Amino acid sequence: MSDVLLSGVSKDYGAVNVIPSIDLHIKAGELVVFVGPSGCGKSTLLRMIAGLEHVTRGDISIGGTRVNDVAASSRGIAMVFQSYALYPHMTVYQNMAFGLELARTPKAEIEKQVRDAARILQIEPLLDRRPKALSGGQRQRVAIGRAIVRNPKVFLFDEPLSNLDASLRGQTRVEIAHLHHSLGATMIYVTHDQTEAMTLADRIVVLNKGNIEQVGTPLELYGKPVNTFVAGFIANQPMNMLDVVAENRGGKIVLKLDGGAEIEAETPMAERARTLGIRPEDVVLVDSGKGPLTGTVSVVEHLGENALIHMTLTGGQEFIVKVDGAPDLAIGAEVSVALVPGRAHVFDANGHALREGDTQVA
Ligand SMILES: Nc1ncnc2c1ncn2[C@@H]1O[C@H](COP(=O)(O)OP(=O)(O)O)[C@@H](O)[C@H]1O
Ligand SMILES: [Mg+2]
Repeated sequence: MSDVLLSGVSKDYGAVNVIPSIDLHIKAGELVVFVGPSGCGKSTLLRMIAGLEHVTRGDISIGGTRVNDVAASSRGIAMVFQSYALYPHMTVYQNMAFGLELARTPKAEIEKQVRDAARILQIEPLLDRRPKALSGGQRQRVAIGRAIVRNPKVFLFDEPLSNLDASLRGQTRVEIAHLHHSLGATMIYVTHDQTEAMTLADRIVVLNKGNIEQVGTPLELYGKPVNTFVAGFIANQPMNMLDVVAENRGGKIVLKLDGGAEIEAETPMAERARTLGIRPEDVVLVDSGKGPLTGTVSVVEHLGENALIHMTLTGGQEFIVKVDGAPDLAIGAEVSVALVPGRAHVFDANGHALREGDTQVA
């Protein structure tokens, strides 16, 4: 178990800089998730930690040792990819044992390591099969098993579940959480899927265009996103973002929306607000006229345990409300929305969150 320290890590591909400069400390035993849209540099960052990609500037340390010039095979890491990359002509056992054989590990020790890993991953009955006789989920477990037997200081996962169907993804996600718990190992996990990030991570690193937007626990990122990018990315349903004009009325800050609606802000910092962010789950539907936002229902999406009400506000803005159960609402019905106190977000002209107690640079 080792920590991983990135100091001013930067990457150029030829003349193109894809990672400007990353500073990050991943603690020993932590499961840190790198999340961000496709092309933001997640794999590049992971591959630099793995030693598969040269670091252009800055330093990477694993367990206190600078590894910039240490070969991938000597870094004490194991990596699991989206493509399982199993040897088709070898059995599951042989696939898992191969790395240890190369390292001239004694046969009895290999046997023990492989059986232990197979038990943890519940693939003992599959040890004599070849990869083509396995499902996608089973193949991915073998790939994870191959990483476990090497007893690495750090596990690196690059979108390991992306090739699996939805139910298997959920199940394997839980298995990886168990694995982290039982091995207590340091893990870095890359995904573009915010659900995976939220459910697996001790801490999430949100990346955008090679830069870190925010680092925090899943609930910190959900509750206190530092900007509109994080607010939009960390959520099952995107946050409703409404343009507002802030007005100071004798010390009270009022946020005015297109269409005439007004909402009183909870923080004096909102005087600089340009955007009001409201999550679909942070409002309640009320009778028309009983809440500050009013509009008409355009679509109702029933999900069973809850529903998403799409509405068009008086000013023409689209707005989504999440409600429990199965509301009986007709298309075209006029409804109002009341805000749950303390749950709205305000952002300045640069998209930075305006929040009491935070030091924000506008
Ligand atoms: N070998 C390469 N040569 C040139 N550009 C690359 C190479 N690998 C990745 N890139 C570029 O670097 C950026 C980050 O890529 P990547 O790390 O793969 O993103 P992610 O994993 O977040 O989808 C992208 O713009 C991608 O096109
Ligand atoms: Mg990638």
